[in-house]
Amino acid sequence: MVRVVVVGTGIAGLITAYRASARHEVVLVTKAELAESNTKYAQGGIAAALFPDDSAASHIADTLRAGAGLCDPAAVEILCTEGPQRVRDLIALGVEFDRAADGELARGHEAAHSNRRVIHAGGDATGLAIEVALLRAVRALAVEVHEHTLMRDLVLDGGRVVGIDVLGPGGVPARIAADAVVLASGGAGQLYRHTTNPGVTTGDGVAAAWRAGAELADVEFYQFHPTALAVSGSPLVSEAVRGEGAVLLDAAGRRFMFDVHPDGELAPRDVVARGIAAAMSAQDGNPVLLDATGLEREHGAGFLAERFPSITRVTREHGLDWTVEPVPVTPAAHYWMGGIRTDLDGRTSLPGLYAVGEAACTGVHGANRLASNSLLESLVFAWRAADALDAVEVVEERAAERHASRDHALTVVEGADLETRPPAAGAPRSPARAEIQELMWRAVGLERDETTLRAAVGTLADWEVRGESFTALEDRNLLDLARIVTHAALVREESRGAHDRTDHPETRDAWAHSLGWRLAAVPAL
Ligand code: SIN
Repeated sequence: MVRVVVVGTGIAGLITAYRASARHEVVLVTKAELAESNTKYAQGGIAAALFPDDSAASHIADTLRAGAGLCDPAAVEILCTEGPQRVRDLIALGVEFDRAADGELARGHEAAHSNRRVIHAGGDATGLAIEVALLRAVRALAVEVHEHTLMRDLVLDGGRVVGIDVLGPGGVPARIAADAVVLASGGAGQLYRHTTNPGVTTGDGVAAAWRAGAELADVEFYQFHPTALAVSGSPLVSEAVRGEGAVLLDAAGRRFMFDVHPDGELAPRDVVARGIAAAMSAQDGNPVLLDATGLEREHGAGFLAERFPSITRVTREHGLDWTVEPVPVTPAAHYWMGGIRTDLDGRTSLPGLYAVGEAACTGVHGANRLASNSLLESLVFAWRAADALDAVEVVEERAAERHASRDHALTVVEGADLETRPPAAGAPRSPARAEIQELMWRAVGLERDETTLRAAVGTLADWEVRGESFTALEDRNLLDLARIVTHAALVREESRGAHDRTDHPETRDAWAHSLGWRLAAVPAL
């Protein structure tokens, strides 16, 4: 038995806690309430080859195609072959996926899948259904829980992770010791002015791992969801809506996506997001329209409210009735393909440190994640990481060696200069979070180019976040990550998947590999 600290309570953290608690002492840490996570807001569903007319091979092919040459094939194979059994495990844990009239699992369609393989719960409340069922399962176990506790940094001893420093309720600092730390702390949607992610997504785990000297990878690949409702908070309008047949219209009422890609509204996510951005530029930045009214005509009145109850509620809250009129949509930051580089069992490059879910870079998503593969990745790889903890005492010292042997081309760039670059003039300035978000949206968003990226690197180097409050620590994490993402986006001189360099529009064979990043000198923590 080892003492495992799991940071984060979305699907990845809860699966790790559930699975590990059978054999280990588990401490679960979250900076908000237990149920608050990106998972809770996931709509479309979870993709898996569960049906007789589908196959893992087909799911693998779709995932690799979407990943634009940057996926780790071994990781993708695990995702798609182990996925169906893990979904059945989820059902056994009490997640009630929607069923068709014949009692079989109902299945939706999403972009770039060659089959209908996306199962869902509560219509469009899949993440919530998963979160509720997993919380029920974990609460029934002897798991120690710390809510409202923000991880400040990892604690290192002789190069090994031995715990975390936290800011607990009321801002009280504390240290939680561990034999292993599993970071399941999610992505960093709050890097951007417009994001579908909730406020908790400040990349705390990735930033702490970075400061501790763990290797990150693929950080330049941030996925922008094509359709967030164009209202404050950018709430998600699931791709499943287009999967059911909704169409995108410009201000003149014209279906423009077929000008961009033969698959129209169901082209890969990055293509649709850029198609929408281009259409918006051509109409003075005004949002395009998502027209789902045809679904009501085709399936009968009440279809949208039944199939997409959460989106229906949100549109109504904003005074919109999508059963009778198209609604305004715009792209928004949604999912980070990059993160803490792991092997196939969640081990990072630091002994004692594991990463799962969006915080991890397992290699399954490459340059562009296939729709509804994220919940599946969390489920499959958190399960594997929890099982790998059994060996933590005996083989951990070999973790770095095993990790390095993974068959995946990698360029490691020492990154200390990102941290130590002297300010251009005078003392560093403390930015407001909104300034970081605005800069990232403008310079490191859907489109990038060298001039803008270089200017952004300079601006970020002149900023420094001071203070020890909850918000200041989150802002420090965002600033650290903004620097790495911007730097990586500058270095990758090509366009691939979610990374679109207008000054390098071609995809280049020479860049068909991940970029790894590691701090050259780990500061004393
Ligand atoms: C959606 O419902 O469109 C989001 C699903 C995903 O991000 O995979």
